[in-house]
Order: sequence, then structure tokens, then C-alpha cells
Amino acid sequence: MIGVESILRELEAALAEAQTPEQVELVRVRFLGRKGTITLLGKETDFRSLGPEERRTFGSQLNELKRQAEELIAAALADRRQRAQARAEAEARAKLDLTLPGKDRRLGALHPITLVQMEMEAIFEGMGFMVLTGPEVETEYYNFDALNIPPDHPARDMQDTFWLEGGLILRTHTSANQVRALERYGAPLRAIFPGRCFRYEAMDASHENTFYQLEGLVVDRDISVANLIAVMKALLGEVFQREVKVRLRPGFFPFVEPGFELDQQCPFCQGNGCSVCKHSGWIELIPCGLVHPKVLEAGGVDPHKFSGFAFGMGMTRLAMLKFGIPDIRLFNSGDLRFCEQFPVVL
Ligand code: PHE
Repeated sequence: MIGVESILRELEAALAEAQTPEQVELVRVRFLGRKGTITLLGKETDFRSLGPEERRTFGSQLNELKRQAEELIAAALADRRQRAQARAEAEARAKLDLTLPGKDRRLGALHPITLVQMEMEAIFEGMGFMVLTGPEVETEYYNFDALNIPPDHPARDMQDTFWLEGGLILRTHTSANQVRALERYGAPLRAIFPGRCFRYEAMDASHENTFYQLEGLVVDRDISVANLIAVMKALLGEVFQREVKVRLRPGFFPFVEPGFELDQQCPFCQGNGCSVCKHSGWIELIPCGLVHPKVLEAGGVDPHKFSGFAFGMGMTRLAMLKFGIPDIRLFNSGDLRFCEQFPVVL
């Protein structure tokens, strides 16, 4: 009565052409939707014109047709969904080439000078020091004159100083910050000045034309050598994590009076003598002294009311000592493998 077979074949043909889940849905609407072929079959048949027997046959045929149609459509839908998924995965796989060599994700490392500087800043900040910086390109005044270094002093010699056009220089030491800071902040003052310095020198394992110093300056009432020693011992104790023996020898620097060389007992041999300390048991570490009255005056500070101490530590040298770095030229080599050896403990 109903062309069940032909409708089903028609449906199968339509489904065979439907490539995507969306196209299957269109086929479903075409057959089972409100105005679909199969739906209309039920609606447009005049049941009253049928006898009871025919009516029953028609009804069960129609139901069977619907059931089979739904089954076919559901199967097609599941199939197209699966295929769509497989296509998407294949596309993703094509983009993700597992045979490509991996990217080397290297962790950054800090330069040993940076590590030492960070450590020093933390230690001095703990003692109430400001951390200040000044220009690397300096005037002769702040680098020399204001520090009581007369024009004929050998430090100004062409062999030590990089001279720039217009009478400017590359600062030869962080002491150039002293008078700048006094002018700006006056007394009392407690500050450190880490920074890069330059000297016109031939390079070898222990000489660089570019190196780092850390200047310290304390100006207050009644500052004495005892204060200087106490601060130096506190500093070295922190850096080397144990009590460090120090000694002072006289040293000459025009901007301090008296001036000293502060030696540290060799941390490698505990003073017994080794190649690092050239078998003397001591390592020359920090030039220092009491601030010369002329320097205080240059900074606008009254030397009758205030006194102070200053020190100029070689940060590069300290880093060499602390990490056992044998050649100063490694610092500016730009070789990342050098930096990567120093663990960052923040
Ligand atoms: N500026 C001196 C130098 O570079 C070091 C120094 C600093 C000495 C402070 C005494 C006081 O050699």
C-alpha cells in the first residue's frame, strides 16, 4: 500500500550524499520533519476511506517505516559525526609535527656581578644605607678635583683614564659619586654606589678595562675607624657566611685621611698560605679610609661637625673570590655558559 521500499531507498540515497552531520539533519527534515515525506504520508491519507483491516496495515506499515527511517538517520548521523571528529583530529595532527626537533627552553641566569650586587645591596639596606647610582660618563671635577686628586696626579694619566670629547671621561672609580651624593643629600649620609668603572689598561687574567666597584660612604658625627672596621666585618661576615678576620694596612688615596688597605684573611686556606693569596695568608680586598676634610667641604659638609668613612670595594674581585672565578675576562665575555653556572638563590 505504501511504497515503503522505494521511500527507504530514496532516503538511503539522500543519506549517502549527506557528508556532514548538518546535511544529515536536512535529510531528516526532508523525510520526518513537519512537512516531511513520511509525515505527510500519515497526514494526507484519508483514513475514513480505508477499511479496518487496511487501516491497521497502513498504520503498522507507517510506524515501521518511521522506525526504520529514524534508525537509518541515527546511524548516518553517528557516522558523520565520527568522521567529522576524525577529520578535525587529522587536521590537528598535520599542524602538530611530532617529528620536529623540540625547542630548547633555556632558563635565564643572572650574571655573577648581578648576584653579588643584589646580595650587597640587601646587606647594606639592612644596615640603613641608601643605594644610589651616578653617571658612567663623568666630569673631571667629580672623578678627580672634588676628591682632592690634583691635576698632576698620576691617576689622571692618559694611561689610566679614558678621555672623551669635551673634557668628559669614563669614571675611573665609583668614588666619583661621593661629592655628588653629599651635594644632594648632605650629612648625615649612609649610602652605597654600585657601578661600572673604566680604566685604560692592558687586559690579562686579572686586569679588565671595564669592571664593577661598590663604593660606600658614611658621614655623621663622630665617625671613626672603629665604625669602618665594624661595618666591613659585618659585610664580609654576611658575604662569606662566617666570621672573617681582617687587618688594616696604611694605604694612600688623596680623598681619605688616614687611608687603608683592608685585607681579609684568605678564605681559601684560612691564612695558611695558598696560591690564591700568593702564600701570604691575606687577600687585599677593600681600599678605604676616613673621608678627607676637603672632600666633605667640596660636598658642602662642615668637616668640623662631621666626619666619615669611605670604601671602594672591587665587586668584580669579590665575585671572583666568592665564586672562585679564575679569569676576570670571563665576566665580559658574553658567553652565556659562564652565567648559567651560577645558581640563583633569591
Ligand atoms: N676609589 C679608589 C679606587 O678605585 C678606592 C677607594 C674608595 C679608596 C674609597 C678609599 C676610599 O682605587
